[in-house]
Amino acid sequence: MNETSPPDRDIHSYARPWEARVTHVALDLTADFTAKTLAGSATLDVERAAGAREVVLDAKGLAVERVTGKDGAALKFTLGAADPILGQPLTVELPPSGPITVAYRTSPDAAALQWLAPSQTAGKAHPYLYSQGQAILTRTWIPTQDSPGIRQTYAASVTVPRDLRAVMSAEQLTPDGEDGPRGRTFRFRMTHAIPPYLIAIAAGDLAFRSLGPRTGVYAEPAVVGGAASEFADLESMVTAAEALLGPYLWGRYDVLVLPPSFPFGGMENPMVTFATPTVLAGDKSLVALLAHELAHSWSGNLVTNATWSDFWLNEGFTTYVENRIMEAVYGTARADVVRVIGWRDLAIEIERLGGMQSKDTVLHVDLKGRDPDDGATQIPYEKGAALLRLIEQTVGRGPFDAYLKGYFERHAFKPITTAQFLADIRTHLLTDKAVEAKIGLEDWIYQPAIPDNAIQPRAAQLTSAGEQAAAFARGAGASTLRTKDWSTQEWQYFLQELPPTLATDRLTSLDKAFGLSERRNSEVLFEWLRVAIRHHYQPAMPALERFLLSQGRRKFVRPLFQDLMDSSWGKADAKRIYAAARPSYHAVTTQTLDGIVK
Ligand code: BES
Ligand code: ZN
Repeated sequence: MNETSPPDRDIHSYARPWEARVTHVALDLTADFTAKTLAGSATLDVERAAGAREVVLDAKGLAVERVTGKDGAALKFTLGAADPILGQPLTVELPPSGPITVAYRTSPDAAALQWLAPSQTAGKAHPYLYSQGQAILTRTWIPTQDSPGIRQTYAASVTVPRDLRAVMSAEQLTPDGEDGPRGRTFRFRMTHAIPPYLIAIAAGDLAFRSLGPRTGVYAEPAVVGGAASEFADLESMVTAAEALLGPYLWGRYDVLVLPPSFPFGGMENPMVTFATPTVLAGDKSLVALLAHELAHSWSGNLVTNATWSDFWLNEGFTTYVENRIMEAVYGTARADVVRVIGWRDLAIEIERLGGMQSKDTVLHVDLKGRDPDDGATQIPYEKGAALLRLIEQTVGRGPFDAYLKGYFERHAFKPITTAQFLADIRTHLLTDKAVEAKIGLEDWIYQPAIPDNAIQPRAAQLTSAGEQAAAFARGAGASTLRTKDWSTQEWQYFLQELPPTLATDRLTSLDKAFGLSERRNSEVLFEWLRVAIRHHYQPAMPALERFLLSQGRRKFVRPLFQDLMDSSWGKADAKRIYAAARPSYHAVTTQTLDGIVK
């Protein structure tokens, strides 16, 4: 068996895969929208080392009814003490051979699952269910070894109410479902072994639009048309990604647009990326998010961080590749813009983490005793991508691209640790010690801060937005600013570049001239609302409240609530709005906000 054992063992899983490891999961589940439970069974294939007597699974909040062997005989099992982060070890006495079947039901507050009432959907007529597995939430709905280094194939048979359609991160064997006594049953199969955080499900009133030979979009009927035009370039993105990284090995690449409570921008579930509806700007201006999730089909889904301390290998490579896809499809000017905005986000994040010397600025982050979610900062994304850009510029694009392709080929369908990455790049690219020294590879990976040799991104297209922000700071009237034809990103940059303090009448004039409080573009509105909170600009407060109540994407709601709580005047508003919004947010978002709005 080739799993990572100490010292690279996954501290966020109870599993002991070197003794017994799960290789396949077969789910048979029924969704009960009244009880808010998934109930049924998980049948696990287990590979045993010689002498193995038990298998340890991860579970959190699962009601385990019984465990049986292939002959139906009951197997002894114990659920250990519950840790608030990790949940419980579920230890099962192994029969000499054959799979084990766990009969169980999920808890109504399983953190991975969100059960939406019809009122929380676009169509208002049908309920909706979706899951979010990353990082360690799969154990709240599937009893398995929930570690990214323990890859598993899966199959599923899922029964939902008759008027709903189920989608999973797998091949659909029954696109229209099959009617039965308990509802409509959909069957799926994922024949590539994947890390369990990528097992995902959604069920709702879903329509589908094809976008290309192997691409398409799922969404509620009211949303699917808009989503199809927004994502019109999806097929060319896949083609561009293949040219850069090698063949796309997952068959189809579809995107599911979720209801607005989806806590992330996107989640790279194999074969079907889950995406926030806040990406639907109407002008394709936010599709870098698709490039990002698509890139994960290689960095993350094909080659997977072995532990959550190696998360930067998933997100740093992905952020780098995202930008290369944007460059290939939309040109260097647009790719430059995305990089500059990312670099600014990184600077803001480093402040939030307590400055350059914070240990949380280390790429290979220490997560002992912590929730892996704590490591999901901009550091693995932007510092990780900055390192890869530095390597690219140091060795040249040709050699770097050849290395990238080789990296995905060598490690396809396997986990990778940071140490393994170092060994790999030293063997295949940085063979000259002097070149590695020039980069300072180990400092980049194991030390805090952004090293001085980082390449500062620049974007000619943002010059005007920067100049106009400066002009406004010097007193120029809002109506004299030259903002014609500005893109989403130019507005974002302009708003970020405004001076820290402005008089109320200056904000009023900006708002009047450009209708900022009425913006529908989520990224632009978000930046404007941050400016508004900073100045206690009252006229934007209804828009702020509307925005916080109408979507639950953590990247947007966390800073806004944090800004309110940090202000001298906004705490009561924050608490009142959060009390109203909380029931519609996903557990990933409330987990974070409960620690902020209190
Ligand atoms: N895999 C992440 C989302 C994630 C990270 C979920 C950590 C759980 C734990 C996804 O690929 C991602 O990075 N999404 C970003 C969007 C992207 C364009 C930077 C997001 O949600 O903001
Ligand atoms: Zn990502």
